Amino acid sequence: GPAFEEWADQVRTAARARDAVILAHNYQRPEIQRVADHVGDSLALSRLAATASAGTIVFCGVHFMAETAKILSPGKTVLLPEPEAGCSLADTITADDVRAWKAEHPGAAVVAYVNTTAAVKAETDVCCTSSNAADVIRSIPAEQEILFLPDQFLGAHVRRVTGRDNIHVWMGECHVHAGIDGATLRERVAAEPDAELYVHPECGCATSALYLVGAGTVPAERVKVLSTGGMAAAARSTTAKKVLVATETGMLHQLRALNGDTVFEPVNSRAECRYMKMITPAKLLRAVREGVTEITLDEETARRARRSVERMIEIGQ
Ligand code: 13P
Ligand code: SF4
Repeated sequence: GPAFEEWADQVRTAARARDAVILAHNYQRPEIQRVADHVGDSLALSRLAATASAGTIVFCGVHFMAETAKILSPGKTVLLPEPEAGCSLADTITADDVRAWKAEHPGAAVVAYVNTTAAVKAETDVCCTSSNAADVIRSIPAEQEILFLPDQFLGAHVRRVTGRDNIHVWMGECHVHAGIDGATLRERVAAEPDAELYVHPECGCATSALYLVGAGTVPAERVKVLSTGGMAAAARSTTAKKVLVATETGMLHQLRALNGDTVFEPVNSRAECRYMKMITPAKLLRAVREGVTEITLDEETARRARRSVERMIEIGQ
């Protein structure tokens, strides 16, 4: 409506004046996604941050994502519209925890999901996201032990798809995705037996989804374990009448905008990340107008973290 357009104009004008590009994660509020220059998953946004020509990156997402942008673009200004937008998963491990874990497993390669602080990334060998985790694992010699952190469900998923049993998994979890559990999924599948399933590998139900396939309850071709970017790509080409989506509910905005012929429904409609939702329209406008809040990193931490993130980007996908 007119209120949205007026606000969007103000945001775009302020962004131009500041030579800023606006990046938004798929879980952001619909208004934020609509005004952003680019919307994507963690990996796509990291890549955009690394190659953006603008002098300022306004990151509509959570703290670790803005930090990752800063790690990759130390010469640019990176703004996070709400500095308190954290991540319950990133909070499950500290740099001291990683150092202690490494001491128990000398010689192991340390793989960190991007949902970690810069200080944690600095202690690791290579990062991964939900879209390239298996490729990153495959880039490590088969006989080398791996410490995978911090998400237990993504860790279990990569163990399964790579077939490796020398991966030790940190027992962290995201409170939002852990709540999308096996019981909820089984109930929804029983009520919608013909629907396709898109399941984010951080979900508590990621293993149950594969059991449903193994038990013959749902045909394998109807179950897709995907990153949020992978879900958007799959939504473009699906011919399914209905898709049940197991991830944070902000994703539904993207999926519905991409494909109006398919009905997209959440597996758990209460799966909302309050941190992602802290980026409100008013806060974004203030951020681009006033240049707040700037992300800063200790140089040595940034340098060590950069090696790990850049190694991931080289492996790519
Ligand atoms: P992706 O967008 O990379 O799938 O990550 C999901 C997530 O939970 C980020 O917080
Ligand atoms: Fe972190 Fe979970 Fe929120 Fe993603 S959805 S930002 S993993 S708390």
